[in-house]
Amino acid sequence: MADNAQGNTGNSRETLGEKLYELAKRRGFFYPSNEIYGGLTGFYDYGSTGVLVKRNLENVWRRHFLRFNDNSFELEPSDIMPESVFIASGHIKNFIDPSVRCKKEGIYYRADHIISDATGQNAEGKSPDELSSMISEYKVRCPKCGGELGDVKVLNMMLQVKLGAEGDTIAYLRPETAQGVYVNFLRQFNIQRGKLPMGLAIVGKAFRNEISPRQLLIRQREFTQAELQMFIDPQDIDNAEKWDEVKDYALKVLFSGKEAAETLSCSEISLKAGIPKLYAYYLAKMQQFFADALGLPIDKLRLRELSKEERAFYNRIHFDVEVYLESLGEYKEIGGVHYRTDHDLTGHGSISKKSHEILFNGRKFVPHIIELSTGIDRVFYSLMELFYNPKSEKKEWEWMSFPPRLAPFQFAVYPLVSKDGIPEAARKAAEQLKSRYEIFYDQSGSIGRRYARADEIGIPFSITADYQTLEDNTVTVRNRDTGEQSRIAIADLPAEAEKLL
Ligand code: GAP
Repeated sequence: MADNAQGNTGNSRETLGEKLYELAKRRGFFYPSNEIYGGLTGFYDYGSTGVLVKRNLENVWRRHFLRFNDNSFELEPSDIMPESVFIASGHIKNFIDPSVRCKKEGIYYRADHIISDATGQNAEGKSPDELSSMISEYKVRCPKCGGELGDVKVLNMMLQVKLGAEGDTIAYLRPETAQGVYVNFLRQFNIQRGKLPMGLAIVGKAFRNEISPRQLLIRQREFTQAELQMFIDPQDIDNAEKWDEVKDYALKVLFSGKEAAETLSCSEISLKAGIPKLYAYYLAKMQQFFADALGLPIDKLRLRELSKEERAFYNRIHFDVEVYLESLGEYKEIGGVHYRTDHDLTGHGSISKKSHEILFNGRKFVPHIIELSTGIDRVFYSLMELFYNPKSEKKEWEWMSFPPRLAPFQFAVYPLVSKDGIPEAARKAAEQLKSRYEIFYDQSGSIGRRYARADEIGIPFSITADYQTLEDNTVTVRNRDTGEQSRIAIADLPAEAEKLL
């Protein structure tokens, strides 16, 4: 493997990570970027299959997050932003990672990561001094060569760009999509007729100079975020308009300082744990996205509350959505619900000298923000793992059981043989479905090989035209999951497809 997909090495987990990566490369889900030049650490390209799945995932995200409030829309601002944005947001000062250098090899590592890997202790959120003490106390050495480590220092994670002929204008690739929304808040608030709550989303790239990119898509230097910023009246934090929809909905939460996750209704979370109702409402929306819209098993998911030391510098309340990934042997953060208060808008107001106070319901105030953030690439990797099925007695090949809405193609269409008018009949069948669904037309190889190819990328239904098609205009439709086949008239395919999907 070009990159380490495992938290640790030398056990059966490794095998699953390797299998997934091998399939990803072979079938065009994702592979190292710039591969012919040896790749670039922390960067991956999505291939022809991966792009289709990723686009479906992003569209499921849009359908879910932009529909629970009528006043929510998507923006597409620039990826490069001036330095003042990040002075205002606090990223210049606070967006830092603790790093440590191997004295022998000169390689840099994320200090908290190598301490956790070596000791099993959670070192996230500790100060450089605390991390340096842990390194000497637990005698942590360079994971590669066993060499001595230097002192822990902090590095800013933003990627700087120099603009203009002389390169004297300093700007940054945004480290989170969120800031692209905040700088447009004043204009959009007018466009959206001055109403709260107001939602603004971006599905786009974020860039971070990660010290130790690892675990394939999980920790990259360029990645996709899907983030919804909800602007609210701070007086409404305990007042969710659609509370009745979620009050009995069960959330799986792991509170800070607790060992095990608990299942509690939104009402219980608000009453017993003092989580404000509006925040609990958004926690429910987040869990519903992963568990219901994407269909991830709830037993692999949890909402983990972050302690004061762990949470991002801009958050007052912070729960991460985590998924258990067997290939990594640990829970991984795939999203989060962040109560950012007025941190960002007040910062932008003061640095831009444009007041971000609004007049709403007869009061002047700076709106608060609750951010619903999803890391698309991490979810993509999770989908690959959680819908992956190894070879078994049932099937001699590996296969993906993606739900149809996520599958790269909804139908594969085959002519049984490439002669006697069968390809024309198969094309006729494909024509019936082409305008509404993604169709994978495959004419080469034995039919068994073609089924295997379709299963490996998770196409839920395969349609085959054969000699009988020439007689009665019917085709066979094979179900990926059960292997069952039925005969359907070509003319009935659109209606049948509707039922199947
Ligand atoms: N706007 C808030 C924000 O950026 P974050 O927790 O730093 O919060 C949000 O990032 C999500 O982006 C994470 O939950 C994770 O899924 C994803 N993410 C963060 N860093 C990443 C990286 N280096 N590679 C891939 N995904 C990453």
